[in-house]
Amino acid sequence: MRIVLLGPPASGKGTQGRKLSASLGLGYLSTGALLRENIEEGTPLGLSAAPILARGGYLPDDLMCPILADWLIKNDSGKGWVLDGFPRSMPQADFLDRCLSENGASLDAAIALEAPFDELLRRICDRVECLTCRWSGQRSELSKGNICPKCVSPAAPRDDDREENFRNRHVEFINLTIPVIDFYRSSGRLISIPATGTKDKTAAAILSSLEFKI
Ligand code: AP5
Ligand code: MG
Repeated sequence: MRIVLLGPPASGKGTQGRKLSASLGLGYLSTGALLRENIEEGTPLGLSAAPILARGGYLPDDLMCPILADWLIKNDSGKGWVLDGFPRSMPQADFLDRCLSENGASLDAAIALEAPFDELLRRICDRVECLTCRWSGQRSELSKGNICPKCVSPAAPRDDDREENFRNRHVEFINLTIPVIDFYRSSGRLISIPATGTKDKTAAAILSSLEFKI
């Protein structure tokens, strides 16, 4: 099964992407996490990406599409995958359809997570990420001393979790990603999921929306 997860920043793409790939035994790619790893490692990709992520912009399509193509070649075992954060623009959506059709494959579902702006902003201000294992959650989930509940290492806010950066990311989402959501709706592949309930409730809603496809 091949699934893309769409939604504004902090709608829960990472949270739900990890749960969904584990539930269905699928591969998982977060393009944002991949870029942050490259920034930390100081790779050429990381050096190009750093100033763009720092201001909350999207990377150019001609940089992102080859990254996706490379990942698909290495990770498409046949069982399928969940993409979190790709496609984010119409050229990326067209590119993904072309990559799949060249291999006789197609996308099974595009899941759009929906939550109001104020809730997204609240989540961004509360998010922390483990500096070692990359667990991500809310401050209230940390052990005493800002320690990751999974691997007992320090956790901290993500570098781009500042209000101004979040607002810029949200504007990019409206301008460039809403057309992608409309495109999947018009081609009958969109599943819209309200993402304001608990994490588990949202995960259950996603799984049940996919039941007829599994
Ligand atoms: P990316 O890392 O994908 O960032 P984003 O889209 O801004 O989304 P976030 O990761 O901030 O949020 P999320 O939806 O994953 O929510 P999460 O599960 O963490 O991309 C970063 C940057 O990389 C982009 O801005 C761009 O520059 C670049 N980039 C990446 N891909 C690109 C592409 N294809 N093209 C161009 N540029 C690209 O949840 C958020 C918080 O809320 C967490 O604390 C979580 O615990 C909490 N939470 C989640 N669900 C719930 C719930 N139901 N109830 C309560 N709290 C919840
Ligand atoms: Mg994420």
